[in-house]
Amino acid sequence: MKNLVILTGAGISAESGLKTFRDSDGLWEGYNIEDVATPEAWQRNPALVQQFYNERRKSVLEAQPNAAHYALAKLEEQYTVTIITQNIDDLHERAGSSNVVHLHGIITRSQSSVNPQLTYPINGWEIGMDEVCELGSPLRAHVVWFGEAVPMIEAAAKIFMKAEVFMLVGSSLAVYPAAGLINYIRREVPKYIIDPKIPEVSVRGEVIAVRERATVGVPQVVEELLKSY
Ligand code: APR
Repeated sequence: MKNLVILTGAGISAESGLKTFRDSDGLWEGYNIEDVATPEAWQRNPALVQQFYNERRKSVLEAQPNAAHYALAKLEEQYTVTIITQNIDDLHERAGSSNVVHLHGIITRSQSSVNPQLTYPINGWEIGMDEVCELGSPLRAHVVWFGEAVPMIEAAAKIFMKAEVFMLVGSSLAVYPAAGLINYIRREVPKYIIDPKIPEVSVRGEVIAVRERATVGVPQVVEELLKSY
């Protein structure tokens, strides 16, 4: 089976009711990113950061996968699929995808505030301010903040090098190092981009731009790929 690599961003979950980042004036649910998604913010005001992610987690748990998530899961019938997502929601998994790499973490787990490798399931939607990891340090959301390392980036680059078909869905490619991954795709690989606003990319070889919302464009491309595998 051919290796199909799919990079997804906030746009794929927009129609599940989860807001994208750069479609709303630099604000994220009414907050400045620096006030809620950086190590400095956590130092300054951990309760605010905890509350912010608790609210995001509640929204994620209430959201449902959409037609685009489900269509991608169907590709596993005929391809070896790896989804590399920048999203911190679990909608790919809930739609049935079995091989998902979360570059920026996953909000449904908690993480030790001193050792990012220590992660835990969360009971319900809230992490309390008094909850601690096995080392006795406070628990925070298992998400990668601005200014933090992206632990999975090298593994992801290797996956991109082996891609035989590539899809990009709903990402502005504005944030590095994730955006740099597309440089690892080989020239001969067909590259589908599904986004109402196709991001500027300079990649070698053929690009097939599908200027549609994810729930419209992704099922179309998936149908084509399943016919032509
Ligand atoms: N279907 C498909 N794409 C859509 C839709 C939709 N219904 N609605 C919006 N989009 C597209 C936008 O045109 C844009 O290209 O989704 C993209 C969203 O871009 P961003 O908001 O920048 O999200 P993303 O690329 O995932 O951001 C990357 O930035 O803040 C950080 O860590 C955060 O993982 C995130 C990273």
